[in-house]
Amino acid sequence: MTLSIRKLHESLGGEIDGVDLSRPLDIDTRSEIQAAWETHGVLVFRNQDIGDTEHVAFSRHFGDLEVLPETDRTDDTMPEIFILSNVGADGKIMPVESEPVTFNTLTWFWHTDSCYRAIPSKGAILHGIEVVKGGGGETRFANMREALAEMPSDLRSRIEGLEGQHSWAWMRSHRNLPPMKAEEAAKVPPVQHKLVRNHRNRSQSLYISPLYMERIVGWDEEETRSLVEELTEWAAQDRFVYEHAWQQHDVVMWDNTWTMHIVLPYDPGSQRRVMHRTAIAGVEAVL
Ligand code: OGA
Ligand code: MN
Repeated sequence: MTLSIRKLHESLGGEIDGVDLSRPLDIDTRSEIQAAWETHGVLVFRNQDIGDTEHVAFSRHFGDLEVLPETDRTDDTMPEIFILSNVGADGKIMPVESEPVTFNTLTWFWHTDSCYRAIPSKGAILHGIEVVKGGGGETRFANMREALAEMPSDLRSRIEGLEGQHSWAWMRSHRNLPPMKAEEAAKVPPVQHKLVRNHRNRSQSLYISPLYMERIVGWDEEETRSLVEELTEWAAQDRFVYEHAWQQHDVVMWDNTWTMHIVLPYDPGSQRRVMHRTAIAGVEAVL
């Protein structure tokens, strides 16, 4: 089988036609998807009305799956599914100040998933179950390979050799969420990763995750924030960014090793948004 792939943006993103994710995947299709994922960084599959079981089964073709460090954020019966939703079990929108709703708004900061792990996630697969109608809730993805390759040489030389410290606990502090349970915090101590990431295939990318990046190692708070902002602004330019406008039952699969993403704000008090995600465990440390 040969997939049809339509490029979505000059820099990254491809829409895949001709796959039904509710059916078992044959090995050739799997390889084609894998290759397209490497090339385009972000893949979009439209009209995939799948359940969590099928979502997990499809995801497992691409590696082991991660389970989030906070059990409140995952589905009890299927811990590989991370639920991003502002709708409660009763089908109604939850209060905007409730923890799950507040937690979801952390995605309104640029980040790459699981950078708080020693080996960050390879990628993620997100299913839009209820998507925002009208403006807001779009997801932007930035190509960090190109952002590095095209970086002005003075900025590039300033980041060479630097490491960022990434922290789950610090991420939570942006929205003044209550401190984590000690046993959960102990599972996710801060980790350090180089800003210029070397991939096994010899490409390089800029590895920043502003939501989690507590510190540039050895720098103070003010210097850190100023550099992180400068790098974020550079990478978030339109020429490096594909913006995904969600339709119901889109499945979007992204590479976390050379892209970062952000959700555009919506009104969580009135606009329903229900998304289920899996995360594929990384196999490659940040070299
Ligand atoms: C995530 C995430 C983006 C979105 O699941 O890691 O950032 O569009 N989600 O909800
Ligand atoms: Mn994310």
